[in-house]
Order: sequence, then C-alpha cells, then structure tokens
Amino acid sequence: VFSNVPLAPPDAILNLSTLYKADESTQKVDLGVGAYRDNEGKPWVLPVVRKAEEIIFQNRPEHEYLPIGGLASFTSSAATLLLGKDNVAFKENRVVSFQTISGTGANYLGARFLAKFKPQDTLVLLSQPTWANHQNIFNTAGFTTQNYRYYDPSTLGLDLQGMLQSLGDAPNGSIVVLHACAHNPTGVDPTQDQWQQIADVMQAKGHFPFFDCAYQGFASGDLDRDAFAIRYFVQRGFECSVAQSFAKNLGLYGERVGCYHVITKTEQSANHVRSQVARTSRAIISNPPLYGARVASTVLNTPELMAEWRDNLKFMAGRIITMRDELRQRLVQLGTPGNWDHIVNQIGMFSFTGLSPTQVEAIKTKHHIYMTSNGRISMAGLSTHNIDHVARAIDDVVRN
Ligand code: LMR
Repeated sequence: VFSNVPLAPPDAILNLSTLYKADESTQKVDLGVGAYRDNEGKPWVLPVVRKAEEIIFQNRPEHEYLPIGGLASFTSSAATLLLGKDNVAFKENRVVSFQTISGTGANYLGARFLAKFKPQDTLVLLSQPTWANHQNIFNTAGFTTQNYRYYDPSTLGLDLQGMLQSLGDAPNGSIVVLHACAHNPTGVDPTQDQWQQIADVMQAKGHFPFFDCAYQGFASGDLDRDAFAIRYFVQRGFECSVAQSFAKNLGLYGERVGCYHVITKTEQSANHVRSQVARTSRAIISNPPLYGARVASTVLNTPELMAEWRDNLKFMAGRIITMRDELRQRLVQLGTPGNWDHIVNQIGMFSFTGLSPTQVEAIKTKHHIYMTSNGRISMAGLSTHNIDHVARAIDDVVRN
C-alpha cells in the first residue's frame, strides 16, 4: 500500500528545534523557531497569562464541548482586537469569527472554506519569500500557489514596484496572502502609504486579501498600530479573511489559540459564510480546544489585564529591539564586510540577515548556531550571554 509513498523533506522550521536539541555543544544557540525567549534563553510565560490562569482556576470551570465556532467571549474580543471596537463592520453584522487551532489552523480553515467557494482555477499568491508553511497549507487545501515579488535582496527592503507589478499581472480575483505586520521571514513591512498603493491594485484586480496576523503587538509594540493594514482594507470596502494567532503575542504557543475571521459586504453574506465555515470546521476539528481560549478571553475581557498585556508586549518587543542594536553594533565593531543597518531597520521577531544557505550551513556545523536556511534569525533567541558568540560566528562565515 505504501510502496509508492516518497520520503517527505523535514520541516524547514520545526526540524531545527530537533537538531538543536540533539546538539551537545555548550555553545549552541537556537535562532530557528519564532518563539520568544527571555535573556536566559528560557520560554517566558507572560505574567498576565499567569494572572488569567489563577482567575480561571478559582472559578473551577467545567470541561464541556465548545460550540463549533468556539468560545464566543474569546472570538468576539479577538475580532475587536483586530478591527477596533467602533468598526462599522460590527454594527452592520458583517464579521464572522471562528476559533481555530492557532494561526496555522486559521490559515487552513480559511483555505479549505475558500477552496469550496472560489472558482476552481483561483490562484493563491504568496509573498516571495513567505512563512515556510504557507505553501504547504494552501496546496494541501487544493490551491495552486504562485509567488508575488516582495523582498529586494539588493536593498534588503520592500520591492514595492515588483509587488505591484506581480499583483497587477496575476489573474483577476486571485487570493493574496498578506502579512498584516512583522512580515515573516523578512521583518520588512509596507508603510501606510505603500499599503494604500497595494490596496489600489488589489481593488482594480478584484483580488481577495487573506491576512495572516501572527505578530500583532510585536511589530510596533502597539496592538492598534499593528492592525493598521487590516483596518484600512476593511475601511476601503474589501471583503477579506484574517488568520489570527495568539501564539506569540500571548506566548500561548502550545495551547493553539487562534481565530479565522471573514469580513463580508452584507449581513446576509456573513450569515451564509458562517454556516459554511461551521461545516468545514466541524469536518476538521469538530469544535476547538477550551483552555487557551479561556486564558485569552480572560485577558481580553478584563481591562486591568489588557493594560498589563500591553506592558508585557512592550517588554518583549523592547528586549528584541535591544538585541537588534547590540548585534548590529558588534558586527560594525568587528568590521564584518557588508552593511548591517537592516538588522535594526527590520521589525518584529525576525531578522533576515542576508546570509546565504552555504553560510547558514557553515554557522551550524562550525559554530552550533541554528537558523532557517534562508538566513532568517529569531531575534528572541539572542541574549546578552550568546550575542558575542553569534556576532563572531556571523563575522567568520561572512569572511570565509
Ligand atoms: C515560525 O515561523 O517560526 C513560527 O511561525 C513557528 C512555525 O510554526 O513555523
């Protein structure tokens, strides 16, 4: 039965964690998976999450099934976090929200739903480069994917003209996956003015925006500012989808807390979409898990905890910004060939170093430093303890 099943390649991101764990060197550094670490390299449970857990524990909750759509107090406050509480789409009952298995589950639920109702030859356009799992998700849901230009290696910044041209050349009505903020892997986001130009082309072409929002709060440290692109597209009248994750911004990685949202043009469409997304989600997960959603809901619906969460986010974003400055400073001091300003100019959890796959391989085998083969490093893996080693190692592989 299985003799024709070929061996699949290891996962580009999660396999790094396995390799890192197996490495016995005391110098090893994990800059692979996008997960926040404290300065001791340890996972950090947000203090606000601990408080929410205590509140939940005291209430002695039951463990019944959730409805197909998930925990309503969570999904509605998650939608508010994205769209802002005064968004006209709420008043017009045009927002559909489903709890999902984190951002990956949200992408997949959206992909499966759209695959049923978009014309069969609809293309999904992904930024070049994008999160390593996007193509896998949309292909698994049955879509053909194609890249749009996004990153310009010569400027280490956004290739806006290339992006506008790719979007303009694509067939009308394509689905365009956009990173709402803190683009993964490049850390390069469009400015507000550039988003406007992107929206112009997409509107002219009738493209469907599918936002992936996995880092709200990590780009600018401000939850509202990081939701700009989504709010802007909705305000311009686009129908769109959003895959939302609370893995990074609430540090709830393993609890798999996320939402899939659809913003429609009319209340009637919203009702129809809701009924169909429910069928799709029932087929995949039946109903979502409760615990993480309770934690997120407790934070999102308690004003003092919301205020504390904003502080926790600023703390994480602040440590990452400090690490960016420190790494750049060291590379400049070492006289490492090249310009390293992009490390401080890029935003969010990642830096797209510009290291080649060969240099990435060398830094792993010679210096026990793990990063994705496209040269992406998770800035949160850097600390005051390992930053000298990492800077010297980058210097070494760039020179040799
Ligand atoms: C990442 O890009 O490192 C994270 O989104 C983790 C993952 O699931 O790939």
